[in-house]
Amino acid sequence: MDPIAAMWEELVVKATAKVDKNDFMHYLPNVRVPKVASPAEDPLAAIETFERLGPWDRTMLELEVENPKAGVVEGDQPPRKKVVLFSGNDYLNLSTHPAVRQASAKASLVYGMGPRSSSMVSGHTDYHRLLEQALGDLTKKEACLITPTGFSANTALLAALGNIASLTCAGRRPAKHEKIAISSDTLNHASIMTPSAWQSVTKRPMHNDMKHLDELLSNCPVQKKVVFTDSLFSMEGDFAPMLELVELRKKHGFLFIINDAHMTLVCGKNGGGIVEVYGIEDQIDICVGTLSKGVGCLGGIITCSKKWKKLIQGRGRPFIFTTTSPLPVIAAAYVALTVAQKESWRRQAIWSRVQEFVALTKYPATSPIIFLVVGTEQEALDRSKHMLESGFHVTAIRPPAVPANACRLRVTLNAAHTSEDIKRLVVALSQCIPSVKDATGQVAAKL
Ligand SMILES: Cc1ncc(COP(=O)(O)O)c(C=O)c1O
Repeated sequence: MDPIAAMWEELVVKATAKVDKNDFMHYLPNVRVPKVASPAEDPLAAIETFERLGPWDRTMLELEVENPKAGVVEGDQPPRKKVVLFSGNDYLNLSTHPAVRQASAKASLVYGMGPRSSSMVSGHTDYHRLLEQALGDLTKKEACLITPTGFSANTALLAALGNIASLTCAGRRPAKHEKIAISSDTLNHASIMTPSAWQSVTKRPMHNDMKHLDELLSNCPVQKKVVFTDSLFSMEGDFAPMLELVELRKKHGFLFIINDAHMTLVCGKNGGGIVEVYGIEDQIDICVGTLSKGVGCLGGIITCSKKWKKLIQGRGRPFIFTTTSPLPVIAAAYVALTVAQKESWRRQAIWSRVQEFVALTKYPATSPIIFLVVGTEQEALDRSKHMLESGFHVTAIRPPAVPANACRLRVTLNAAHTSEDIKRLVVALSQCIPSVKDATGQVAAKL
């Protein structure tokens, strides 16, 4: 085992041993649900996959919204308007896949929502366990914990991390230098900026600034350091410099945690996310993700070692004190993983759309999340409205998600968008972005 990971494992064992002499924390009861009567009822049987997009791929991509012109301009304006969605996170468009629909429908017919209780009581079924195994395999980790959302996955992990110091100093309050110092990029997702992180010493390195991070780590008197970063930043659309972070881990020996929420299934040959792209599975200690984006369902994922899982089970309050995900969602997520493996053309399609957008606009997008900073809240709302009128749902991102003077349009691409969709989108964007040119000179020049 990597020596940095081994050092942390030892600490985790020490922390859990203090509170769990009888090894109760290890025990996650597994509920055996009744067997289905026939293969036709089995949510996981006969998973059908396809070679290309099907009509089902437009079900949730072409929607209707309130017509922004209805009641505002004269003349007959229909109350609703058809738009193509360029604002969702269902990157592979799996939420409407026939096999995913079948799995959730069959599971709900046979089991309803499944046991309604927390995982540690009776909510954790064979299906949850199966999905955990598949996700552990995907990220090459020995264990996985499923939480109700990606948000709670991050907060549960932070809660467990924050407990380590008090567990290892049982009976007294840990001094500052005995706590854990968590470095969290200033643009990390809100779920990594929560009060549960405050039990630890928190450092806020400037966004993707490795020199600043290096300085903060070098000057931090706390011995046990953690670096927690989004892999792809949801409000910027840029990636964390993974290889530089791996180098810094060697220098400082920190526990390296990534929040790969936007890349699970979306990148890597097998959809294993950013760690698979770089082949750095053994350098990333804990990988957090979500079932709500690329997987097209709902839920959070923490993949890690068995020892870390035990600590999070025992001390991650946002995991412990909440009802587990409904069984149809879990069955659907399991099938979505299988579909994503077999329909790898979906991954290729989304990255092709990114390249097409870049070729048409010369905008330096590197991911399916593309931001066009326009300025004030009003400017962003006006442009979002123009896009709606042109037949595209593109969200205006405003405070508190971003600073007041850096409001932006956020375009998200999807494997089911066609090249034609991208061309039409770019035409509509170029009609509203040039007017921004004088204000920022930044985006319009690139469109
Ligand atoms: C970077 C990032 N992390 C975590 C989350 C939370 O995931 P979930 O929506 O599953 O709670 C989101 C999105 O909502 C996100 O963008």
